[in-house]
Amino acid sequence: MNVEKEAIEHRPSPIDHALIEADALTKRFPTGGGELEVLRDLSMAVERGEVVAVVGESGTGKSTLLHLLGALDRPTSGTVRFRGEDLFEKDDEALASFRNREIGFVFQFHHLLPEFTALENAAMPALIQQQRLRDARPRARELLEALGIAERSGHRPSELSGGEKQRVALARALMNSPALVLADEPTGNLDTKTAGALHDEMVRLSRERAQTFVLVTHNLTLAERADRVLHLEEGRLVEEERAEAEGAGA
Ligand SMILES: Nc1ncnc2c1ncn2[C@@H]1O[C@H](COP(=O)(O)OP(=O)(O)OP(=O)(O)O)[C@@H](O)[C@H]1O
Ligand SMILES: [Mg+2]
Repeated sequence: MNVEKEAIEHRPSPIDHALIEADALTKRFPTGGGELEVLRDLSMAVERGEVVAVVGESGTGKSTLLHLLGALDRPTSGTVRFRGEDLFEKDDEALASFRNREIGFVFQFHHLLPEFTALENAAMPALIQQQRLRDARPRARELLEALGIAERSGHRPSELSGGEKQRVALARALMNSPALVLADEPTGNLDTKTAGALHDEMVRLSRERAQTFVLVTHNLTLAERADRVLHLEEGRLVEEERAEAEGAGA
């Protein structure tokens, strides 16, 4: 893999920016009865290597926020900066290429392609970059192995369990070694044990590669394992107070 070349091409800005920063984000959706304001003047910053959990009741705008952070949608107003660069100044083509290189998405509903195998689905971000399957296969295989589903490589999504599909979706998100992984309830439909294991695996993989994670979850036990927990309430994020600082011997 061409890690060095990538590091040079995507070297961080010399100024000390957070990996991703949202400033005064507002998102309104037009609806039949007027506009629905989901995010209101929301600001946040996530440092490189952090694992941040976003929690909040259903319908508060967690998925909407992730979509904006990953530039899948544009805000009504406000900015998102990635390594100091304003994402929404880019045109759609530049944004698509940015997402493919820098962002790994795990969607709330995994969105695997039904006609492709687990291995091909995992390899998809590399195939989109015009890599040949032959070249992408070892990395996809390695990820499926790390996630414990290598023996399902040849299965299509309809031949996988819910948890296995989530794992394939996670492998796909990690395929291009993105700097930022945005995960929307990646363990939502799983039993507690499987959810915990997948969550830990995700965090381990990200720590190994100094990847940054923003994770939406309804599972407060899993949220507590993140470096920080942000609560989305009335369009804004509120940081959860931790009882004691990490490593502080109380
Ligand atoms: N494209 C859209 N048009 C209009 N309203 C939308 C649109 N997308 C989302 N909404 C509304 O915005 C609000 C926030 O939706 P969002 O999907 O971000 O919530 P969420 O916090 O992810 O909820 P959940 O925990 O159920 O996944 C909801 O009330 C939803 O109905
Ligand atoms: Mg959601």
